[in-house]
This record gives sequence, structure tokens and C-alpha cells, in this order.
Amino acid sequence: MALVSLFELLDHADREGYAVGAFNCNNMEIVQSIITAAEAESSPVIIQASQGAIKYAGLNYIIALVRQAAEGTAVPVVLHLDHGTSFDQVMQCIRFGFTSVMYDGSQLPLEDNIAQTCKVLEIARVFGVSVEAELGKIGGTEDDISVSEKDALLTDPAEAEHFVSETGVDALAVAVGTAHGLYKGEPEIDFERLAEINRLVSCPLVLHGSSGVPEKSIKKAIELGVRKFNIDTDIREVFVGSMRKALTNNPSEIDPRKILGPAREAAVEVIREKIRLFGSTGKAR
Ligand code: G3H
Ligand code: ZN
Repeated sequence: MALVSLFELLDHADREGYAVGAFNCNNMEIVQSIITAAEAESSPVIIQASQGAIKYAGLNYIIALVRQAAEGTAVPVVLHLDHGTSFDQVMQCIRFGFTSVMYDGSQLPLEDNIAQTCKVLEIARVFGVSVEAELGKIGGTEDDISVSEKDALLTDPAEAEHFVSETGVDALAVAVGTAHGLYKGEPEIDFERLAEINRLVSCPLVLHGSSGVPEKSIKKAIELGVRKFNIDTDIREVFVGSMRKALTNNPSEIDPRKILGPAREAAVEVIREKIRLFGSTGKAR
């Protein structure tokens, strides 16, 4: 089926109280893993590419892979730009067929973030493309985005209310204690803050840095309005771990399919678990 917008998926998720997984891709095998997992779970899915993934694979390849994957399946698929800090990159993705973009203005002062996000929304609305924004600074590193622990800044609920009412954004990524990349210990999520943001804000919430977050915390976050969970590190870990094991077991292997194939299968299982945890199993419509 044709690609769908983020708004379509999250509006239904909001009404039925579940969340949808947003899985980062940067090559063919991971796109295939995501689609295979979503089909097996009969679940909607968000396939997202960061600016780093676009630099690595090429925008045309990302679009061709994900568009092909969507057309070959009966589950709804969103193609989403993750952490679009470059206005030009956001515009290019809208122009070339992404159905959703994140404009990440979290590094800007509040009013500049609002102004830039409104500019993106004005254009995205013409193309029927959904827009996610970020308020607060999520720590850790995701490709070319890096925020140190001391610079990480939790989202202020009153600011979030102001931001969403000024912009009308479709989804808001909030900083409530998660971080990109591998956690050293269990992330401490500020659920009180999340509950207050959810009370004040009228749009679905997004949790970045969801790899490694305990199941009980994911379930609580869904109760508190999170409708999109971003997962990259968990996929990288299992994908590269499988490749490492294959090469250790057979150091003389020169057929990439023998290395990438099992990695692709291993990633399917991890993504299926996440989909079941987020509650979107059986929600494809
Ligand atoms: O934008 C991508 C995600 O926030 C990545 O989070 O490192 O926990 O997988 P993760
Ligand atoms: Zn992120």
C-alpha cells in the first residue's frame, strides 16, 4: 500500500491507547527486517532515516527502498525523517516523498524553534506531510546529533503547552530522562513531568532513546500519552552482534549474504518484540 502520514497512524493510536514503533534504517536488510516484523505482527510501522543515514545510503536509495517495501505490503508504513536539523534537508525530504518529517529545533531558543517549526509546517501541510518537533534536549548521540549529559535539558511542561498551541505540530518529542545510544544503567524517566506534559499538550508525544528502556517504563509511558517510540540502538546491537558471531564462526566467509542474512533475521525478532510491547500488534488497518 502507498506510504501513509504519521498523523494517520498516531491519531488511531491515540484513540485506542497504544503506540507505534519508529525504527531507524540505513540499509536494505534493516528495511526488510522492519517490514517483515510489521507484517508478522500485522502492525503499522514507522521507518525512519536520520540525516546520517541519508548521507550514508543516499536519499534516493532510502526513498526507493522504503517506498518499494510499503508497496509490497498490506500494513501501513510511514517514511519519516528523523532529527532533521537542516531546514534544507527537511524540505528535500518533503519534496521527494517522505510522508513525515521531524524538524529538530531543540538546539534553538524556544521562540526560534517555534518560528522554524511553523515554517516547516506551512510547507508540509501543502504536501499532506506530518511534522514532529522536539522541545528540551535529549542527551546521547544519534548519528550527527550529540548532546552531552550536562547540556541535556528536560522539557518544561508549560513551554510544551505554549509550543504546541503556537505551532499545531502533529507530534512532540520530549526530554524526560531518556537518551540516545547505550545506557550505562537504567534510565530514570521523570514520569511526573511526562504526565504534566500529557495533561497540558494536545498532540501525541514521542519518546526518543527508547532502546534499553525497561518494559514497565514503556508501558507507563504509553499510559501517559507516548504514541511513538524511537528505536535504533537495539537494532544496531542485534544486527552487528549477529554479523560479529557469523564472522567469528567462519572467519574465511566472503559471501556478504552469509553475514547479512542472519543479521536481518535477528533484527526481525527484536523489532517484533518491540511492536508487541508498544501494543500495535493487530492494529494494521
Ligand atoms: O532518533 C532515534 C532514536 O531516538 C534512537 O534511540 O538510541 O535509544 O535507539 P535509541
Ligand atoms: Zn532520537
